[in-house]
Amino acid sequence: MSDALTPLTARPGGSLSGRVRVPGDKSISHRALILAAMTVGETAISGLLEGDDVLRTAQAMRALGAKVVRGENGAWRVHGVGVGGFAEPSGPFDFGNSGTGCRLAIGAVAGCGITVTFDGDGSLRKRPMRRILDPLARMGARVVEEAEGGRLPLTLKGAADPLPITYESPVPSAQLKSAVLLAGLAAPGETTVIEAEATRDHTEKLLKHFGAKIVTKPHGEHGRRIVLQGQPELEPAPVLVPADPSSAAFPLVGALLVPGSDVTFEAVMTNPLRTGLFITLREMGAQIEETDKRADGGEEVCEMRVRTSPLKGVDVPASRAPSMIDEYLILAVAAAFAEGQTRMRGLKELRVKESDRLEATAAMLRVNGVTVDIEEDDMIVHGMGANGVPGGGEVATHMDHRIAMSALMMGLASKEPVRIDDSAFIATSFPGFVELMRSLGADLS
Ligand code: S3P
Repeated sequence: MSDALTPLTARPGGSLSGRVRVPGDKSISHRALILAAMTVGETAISGLLEGDDVLRTAQAMRALGAKVVRGENGAWRVHGVGVGGFAEPSGPFDFGNSGTGCRLAIGAVAGCGITVTFDGDGSLRKRPMRRILDPLARMGARVVEEAEGGRLPLTLKGAADPLPITYESPVPSAQLKSAVLLAGLAAPGETTVIEAEATRDHTEKLLKHFGAKIVTKPHGEHGRRIVLQGQPELEPAPVLVPADPSSAAFPLVGALLVPGSDVTFEAVMTNPLRTGLFITLREMGAQIEETDKRADGGEEVCEMRVRTSPLKGVDVPASRAPSMIDEYLILAVAAAFAEGQTRMRGLKELRVKESDRLEATAAMLRVNGVTVDIEEDDMIVHGMGANGVPGGGEVATHMDHRIAMSALMMGLASKEPVRIDDSAFIATSFPGFVELMRSLGADLS
């Protein structure tokens, strides 16, 4: 990413209308590449997200010895090297902005007796890696070098003979769960992850898809116990990546807020562990119609039609956080345009995302005239009603794609334009975002 900032301004104006398909799901895209690289043979992947984050994972898999090729029309092919078959790369990995790519790759490398250096951009270098390094150390991986506080850049020596563990995750994190499971692939016997609150299960689903023996059972009120049988021979199987609900979230909320809008989204994934935002928006009064529900490549998808709706404030329970952890920023924008107060509970994990999203979201709203309180891990947005948000602010995006897109959606519906200091990071997760929004009628320049 270049150092020059590329500001962008969203101006209120006409309605949003049309029919769009947002890019492929980021979580599934990373996992499809990594797991396909651990199969024996060739896997075809269609619908892969071609954002900067995922392209870096593709590059890392190549450097580990897999053949990863983009064919015509975005048809990707990955020729894997088998579980435990990664070769030591000749240089360090630069994962850019991507926590998911980096943490999952660390897990995959931890089960091989190779030494790899992981690095990333200024945002990724601030993010905690200890949470995954601790369980991986129990499995036999060793940190050779790390920056202060267990951060990037770090060098990991994977375990030539990894040990299976039973790991009770202290934080609800799909990246942490996935890192342990990916390392567990190379261990003999059973690797078990217990999560008190269920997080996105794409790793488990794809592992099954590629032929691993993995069993998931309920654990407690909201949790799961996942048991993976180690040392499988993973077999190639085609992957169809559905449209990313976390990306659809931005134009979808835009359509709810901008008067007179009517937008249809094709093939949006509705995995129940990802749909907290849609549930919450409906509670707020959003008109979101789901049709053509079906299973596509092992995930539930549907067509979503969204029309402008008056919203009211709600209380969002902490138990919903794992199913909408990336969506609080755009939900906070929706809440600003609602009548009454919205309280979002239990947002601790937002502090360790691409930016400190709790502070950055509050700052985004405040600079545009919205009152926000942070009480411990809760955020309270004082809604100003459909026509009440002043706007007119310049938003600091802190190398965070989701702050950038949320602020722009705000500018489409507020009284005055909203400007962001930098739009470059949008390409990490949503290439073509500006063009897609303009095709719907948004004024972005
Ligand atoms: C992701 C898990 C979440 C989420 C991230 C993608 C994944 O992170 O915020 O955007 O694909 O596993 P955590 O595991 O840190 O909660």
